Amino acid sequence: MTRPVLRSELCDLLKIEYPIMLAGMGVWGMGTPPELVAAVSDAGGCGVLGGSALSPEEVRRRIQRVRQLTDKPFGVDLLLPASLAAASTTRTGVREELRNNHPEHVAFMHSLLERFELTPSPVENDIVNSDKYAEAQIEVVLEEKVPIFAAGLGDPARIVPRARDQGMVVIGLAGTVRNAERHKEAGVDLIVCQGTEGGGHTGRVSTLPLVAEAVTSVAPVPIVAAGGISDGRGIAAALTLGAIGVWMGSAFLVAEECGLPDVVKDELVEGKASDFRISESWTGKSLRAKHNVVSDAWAQSGLPSLPTPYQRVLMEDFLSAAQKAGRWDLYMNAAGQGTGMLKQRRPAADIMADLVSGTVQALTDTPNRVEFAQ
Ligand SMILES: Cc1cc2nc3c(=O)[nH]c(=O)nc-3n(C[C@H](O)[C@H](O)[C@H](O)COP(=O)(O)O)c2cc1C
Repeated sequence: MTRPVLRSELCDLLKIEYPIMLAGMGVWGMGTPPELVAAVSDAGGCGVLGGSALSPEEVRRRIQRVRQLTDKPFGVDLLLPASLAAASTTRTGVREELRNNHPEHVAFMHSLLERFELTPSPVENDIVNSDKYAEAQIEVVLEEKVPIFAAGLGDPARIVPRARDQGMVVIGLAGTVRNAERHKEAGVDLIVCQGTEGGGHTGRVSTLPLVAEAVTSVAPVPIVAAGGISDGRGIAAALTLGAIGVWMGSAFLVAEECGLPDVVKDELVEGKASDFRISESWTGKSLRAKHNVVSDAWAQSGLPSLPTPYQRVLMEDFLSAAQKAGRWDLYMNAAGQGTGMLKQRRPAADIMADLVSGTVQALTDTPNRVEFAQ
């Protein structure tokens, strides 16, 4: 069978067949494992490894694993902390600051452990996402000569010259037009504009106005659209807005190659768009995830969430206990509003094939449904 054709400028820039990128998703290594990255790249898209929560050695190991699985282009996404001000750069240090300065928050987290009968099981590594830590991760990505690098948070300006020297494509993620303009000033090759509909950390502006405005205001730097895109109609809409491709996270969380447990994927398949809500209780930054009793308890506690890394470190200890107990119903199931359209768990290659054929279908059908002339 001949493969459908769907090409844009993104395909030339990244040397891929279809203008579809797998969003790098951290989730402690479970979101976008090498198997999923390679499967998306093999299917003609661009797989992106989410490396944010991984040690530099683990980032290297996973990059090498992707290379064992595929010879196609792929990327790595890291979170570059803009500035963590005076916060400690170790988990032990942040916990101590929490105990000294935010005893009510610590007590509330412990009350949650008791309420759900969880045995405390604090995260064992001593890593928080500090500047120093991010620098070491970036070194690995450069040393390994990964073809595509995406900066999920923070300013990628410091990487651009070295990346360019070795032919690496640098991508910045933005949730506002102002942020997109900053990425342009930093010299990135491509900007992903993620609307509020998206899963994980997300802003307040919707995909449609964000992409439409950014396409004009940061031209000629190309835009890739993200947030709430789950099928070919969404991709066709993004291309019509002027984006050169899409960056999709939630839709690939139900892929068989994704490392999340099936019970979590099933929650996504069963969920409705309105179940996935923004809360600061998980990390201290606005993050879209499945609404559950834990985010609800924080909302009712009256306690304001702490800035990252404090809220994050606090909640990671809770999530670690929930995970150990197999209580995935208490977990932070980060996903976007496009989740409402996901119908089943299936291999990434099937998801990709439907996305491509659905886009071609949507683009082909539109002139049949809409009358227009110039
Ligand atoms: C579970 C999950 C984890 C995520 N982790 C990261 C991350 O580590 N780094 C990052 O830049 N973006 C992260 N994101 C955001 C995605 O890169 C992407 O922008 C978003 O998923 C797009 O919206 P969609 O989920 O509607 O497709 C995450 C998203 C989800 C759903």
